[in-house]
Amino acid sequence: MADILIQPARAIQGNFSVPGDKSISHRALILAAMAEGKSTIRGLSDARDVASTRACLEALGIKISTTRAGITVTGKGKHGFRAAKQALDAGNSGSTIRMLAGVVAAQPFTTTLTGDDSLRRRPMRRIIEPLEQMGAHIESDGFKAPLVIQGGPLHSIDYASTVASAQVKSCILLAGLYANGTTRVTEPSPSRDHTERMLGAFGVTARFSQAGAGVQGPATLHACDLEVPGDLSSAAFFLVAASLLAESEVTIQQVSVNPTRMGICDALLAMGSMIQMTPAALVQGEPRADLTARSSRLHAASLGGSMIPRILDEIPILAVAATQAHGVTVVRDAGELRLKESDRLAAVAKNLQAMGANIRETRDGLIITGPTPLHGAEIESFGDHRIAMAFAIAGLIASGETLIKESECVEISFPGFFELLGRLRQE
Ligand code: S3P
Repeated sequence: MADILIQPARAIQGNFSVPGDKSISHRALILAAMAEGKSTIRGLSDARDVASTRACLEALGIKISTTRAGITVTGKGKHGFRAAKQALDAGNSGSTIRMLAGVVAAQPFTTTLTGDDSLRRRPMRRIIEPLEQMGAHIESDGFKAPLVIQGGPLHSIDYASTVASAQVKSCILLAGLYANGTTRVTEPSPSRDHTERMLGAFGVTARFSQAGAGVQGPATLHACDLEVPGDLSSAAFFLVAASLLAESEVTIQQVSVNPTRMGICDALLAMGSMIQMTPAALVQGEPRADLTARSSRLHAASLGGSMIPRILDEIPILAVAATQAHGVTVVRDAGELRLKESDRLAAVAKNLQAMGANIRETRDGLIITGPTPLHGAEIESFGDHRIAMAFAIAGLIASGETLIKESECVEISFPGFFELLGRLRQE
């Protein structure tokens, strides 16, 4: 396993872009595979998770090729899939397994979906229950992958999800495209709405609001050309690094600023970070902007409630920021973080404590008192990409060296992360 040593930096500076949004990339591949005709996707993320979605779709008989124009997906309509010869491997990707479950549940064949050790520990009851209510049969051991999904005709449901999860919502909406009638999903707080927005580009109207989302089935998707904006969750590491290091300024071009994902900017602005947004066009219903962040004096914030789904993946890097903020930052209502690629509350608390931070883990959150100088330490990434990257940034502001273990996991969402960091850092 590749460990990487991070040295402290004086500043970071640069004007650059980050890989395509991972959430949007998964959906672009899946919807294009369900559509009739050839779709071309530009700016698709080269992350390993997205490659898992591509490989699963190819195993279901979909032709996907890399061309000069982008990635071309030849869809044969939503019934154009064929049974895979073996189990589909979603790797580390929750989005892949949960969203594809919604598609294969409607096919006239059986599909086994599985993944790596981390994914096989994650909860799947949240998709098994609604899909079974729609008429699918799913076998699992303790509601964990591997999932053996016996697909067939589905009927529409009105589903009140107990978790705010875009993966769950998208799984049900994708299945709903096959069912007769309106399938609706409500959730405790709104989660990211990329599926709903992207369906419009494929000629299907999804109704969505703060209250929930719905699709009318059966629906026909028509191929289209898509352009994926930069991933705000990847940009977040550099927004925080520039905020924390003196004499720093970064501009990240053409990043997705979808309101359901913008919690990181709202939280950093509330903490006193100088972030500027230069809005660009709305492309396929997704807003994008150039984001600039500069060295700032941060103060503590209170993060909880409906804000949590909007900052879910950014909580590890926000916790790093909070160690340098004046006052007590409280994160609550974030128990879902224990069910991600690793238990992110435990991973963040353990690693920040090792670096000298004043941080305490609660049942569903973190309490961080700052500012505290950090020192280098040996960091356990737990094979979790967001933990590895958050602590690479912590290493920049720490004294001494920081060793990130199993650092190659960054490839899951951000190939080239360490190379980019190397280019931006100023000694
Ligand atoms: C994602 C939704 C979120 C997020 C994940 C990507 C998506 O998960 O944490 O990284 O693409 O829909 P949940 O919807 O399970 O909370």
